[in-house]
Amino acid sequence: MTRNTTFRVLAAVAVMAVAGSALAQDAASVEKARKDFFHVLGKAAKGSGEEFKKTPPSIAEIQKFAAILDAEAPKLPSHFPAGSGPESGVKTEAKADIWAKPDAFKKAAADLATAAHNYNLAAQKGDLMAAGAAMKAVGGACKACHKEFKAKDEH
Ligand code: HEC
Repeated sequence: MTRNTTFRVLAAVAVMAVAGSALAQDAASVEKARKDFFHVLGKAAKGSGEEFKKTPPSIAEIQKFAAILDAEAPKLPSHFPAGSGPESGVKTEAKADIWAKPDAFKKAAADLATAAHNYNLAAQKGDLMAAGAAMKAVGGACKACHKEFKAKDEH
């Protein structure tokens, strides 16, 4: 190996090390944004559930939560870019199956988006009964995906 080649190899290794740590940092920021996203969903779902238990529930509050769920749910798949699973080394409850079974995952996400949209439509009409039933379907869509694609089913 000439001096020049040695230098080039070392330079390449250095570039790879930097790229590697940039990747790890990316996965960490993806994970942070993903958790923040799910906290928004969680708050709107929990808030809905609590509001429906009140007598009488406030339709204005329910409309607020339903609008959040409807606006946010379609963004779910964008929070799961390739390389942000357990293999990235970040602490995550996202199962590798999300990327191994992309069609099933996409369907689970689409089911939530549909349910959230139906919930919002019923809520904006002021139909509490229909909104309550639609919110149950939203909860069912959260659970169905967690059961299959989330490591611990605690939410
Ligand atoms: C298509 C799949 C899918 C759907 C639908 C889904 N989730 Fe999740 N959820 C996940 C996955 C995967 C994780 C684990 C993310 C991680 O740890 O990186 C998660 C994590 C969470 C977390 C924990 C965040 C944290 O801090 O660890 C909450 C809360 C949550 N989801 C709430 C909800 C609610 C509420 C709904 C329905 C309105 C919902 N999710 C719908 C897949 C889904």
